[in-house]
Amino acid sequence: MHIMLSQKNTFIQTALQALCLSAALLQAPVALADYKGENPMQESRESAAAMLKELGGKLQAALKDGGPVNALGVCTIEAPAIAQRISEEEKITIRRVSSKPRNPTMGVPNDWQTKALQLFEEALARGDKPADIEFVEAVKAGSGSRMELRFAKPIVMQPQCTACHGNPEQISPEVKAKLNELYPNDKAVGYKPGELRGALVVSRFIGYNNN
Ligand code: HEC
Repeated sequence: MHIMLSQKNTFIQTALQALCLSAALLQAPVALADYKGENPMQESRESAAAMLKELGGKLQAALKDGGPVNALGVCTIEAPAIAQRISEEEKITIRRVSSKPRNPTMGVPNDWQTKALQLFEEALARGDKPADIEFVEAVKAGSGSRMELRFAKPIVMQPQCTACHGNPEQISPEVKAKLNELYPNDKAVGYKPGELRGALVVSRFIGYNNN
């Protein structure tokens, strides 16, 4: 298990950046309420797992039903919609980021997310299993009495992902045409199974001192 816990000053940057526009959808702002539960880290972990499971299941089904062209809708519309729904339900921000993003707004990592992606690369290079890798950090949020709890989990390339994120010869002309149209600045190609594709990132605010 790769856990990093540190404390430093920061601004509520993540929350603001998470309100960006998706290429396909306008995301409504999410209210980040103070956390009132018992175990925020475990809940972040569960939210991340739920998102990966739901998205993975839908992608798998769509690929089986009608191949990658059909599955594109899952990625362009369902992925941001699932992230938005879980964010609202759990009062957190959750999304997917990458050092070579396809989505030019939602997919771009901020500072802590870039750090998490780098640590994930190192952990995978050392031979750690993706399921055992995670990033956790708690930082003071601005000058108030709140902490931002940041959690991230690696997203690793599977064989079926190459239909849309692999080498040019692995991507069909129809999918290429659609990707060019929707994402003219697409960087998310050229990946091999087993490589780090990105990270699922979760932010939540927790009160720590009410004086
Ligand atoms: C049918 C095509 C398709 C397949 C198959 C596919 N993706 Fe994607 N992927 C996309 C599209 C389109 C986006 C951009 C979605 C958006 O606008 O938010 C994307 C975005 C992502 C992102 C968000 C970061 C970014 O680049 O913007 C990650 C992470 C990701 N995909 C991982 C995967 C993984 C892992 C698999 C295999 C399990 C996979 N994808 C399979 C089309 C696909």
